[in-house]
Amino acid sequence: MNEDTKIWGLGIGPGDPELITLKALKILQAADVVAYPAPANGDSLVRAIAAPHMSGSQEEIIISTPMVTERYPAQDVYDKGAAEISAAVEAGKSVAVLCEGDPFFYGSFMYLFARLSESYSVQVVPGVSSLSACSAELALPLAARNDVVSVIPGTIDADEMERQLLAANTAAIIKVGRHLGKIKAVLEKIGATEKSHYIERATMENQRIVALSDLDDESAPYFSMIIVRRNGEILDQ
Ligand SMILES: C[S@@+](CC[C@H](N)C(=O)[O-])C[C@H]1O[C@@H](n2cnc3c(N)ncnc32)[C@H](O)[C@@H]1O
Repeated sequence: MNEDTKIWGLGIGPGDPELITLKALKILQAADVVAYPAPANGDSLVRAIAAPHMSGSQEEIIISTPMVTERYPAQDVYDKGAAEISAAVEAGKSVAVLCEGDPFFYGSFMYLFARLSESYSVQVVPGVSSLSACSAELALPLAARNDVVSVIPGTIDADEMERQLLAANTAAIIKVGRHLGKIKAVLEKIGATEKSHYIERATMENQRIVALSDLDDESAPYFSMIIVRRNGEILDQ
């Protein structure tokens, strides 16, 4: 660890508070300030994941984001968050920024990193990503030998999604949300419905797993993923 580090992007895992690394735990408990994103009106899920490990006496910076499904918060949210973190560092404090899963796997931490890393030493502590968590909870290995795994945002258009799905042996479709209908239609078109597995809130108390062919829902919660294993070496052995 760089002795000069005052800011950490802490991967705290996908939901189960026990899926935090020892390194992230130590840094979380030693930090003067804990920063985290929270919806404009509602509780911060990332703080709830870390809460069992926090003393309650640390200073907190709330980065209030309009975290509606798939909508990127306005950049000024990150300007403000970065300014508050900078002020804490200038006052001699260390800041741990909580990141759900892994900070650099589709994590909004990268917007803070872009703003802070030119002026300060910022260290990222990797976390257990939702990809690993969903694969483990579904008891579905992702890849073997020469298999290609793709991560496909549910937000992309149907034609591109079809191309990406056909190019991979295994695909993880993230950001399912209101795109569930479109995703189901594409999977049906390429004959992959029976090979698709839906999971929401992996490793959280209210985790739910449903075979895609049995899923009648029209939309999915923010924390949901579909893993599609069409073919590949793990199926051929
Ligand atoms: C903005 S990305 C953040 C990913 C996160 N940084 C990670 O490492 O997993 C959010 C998407 O990750 C997926 N995701 C994150 N946590 C999840 C969980 N516990 N269960 C299922 N999907 C999850 C969902 O597809 C969600 O829309």
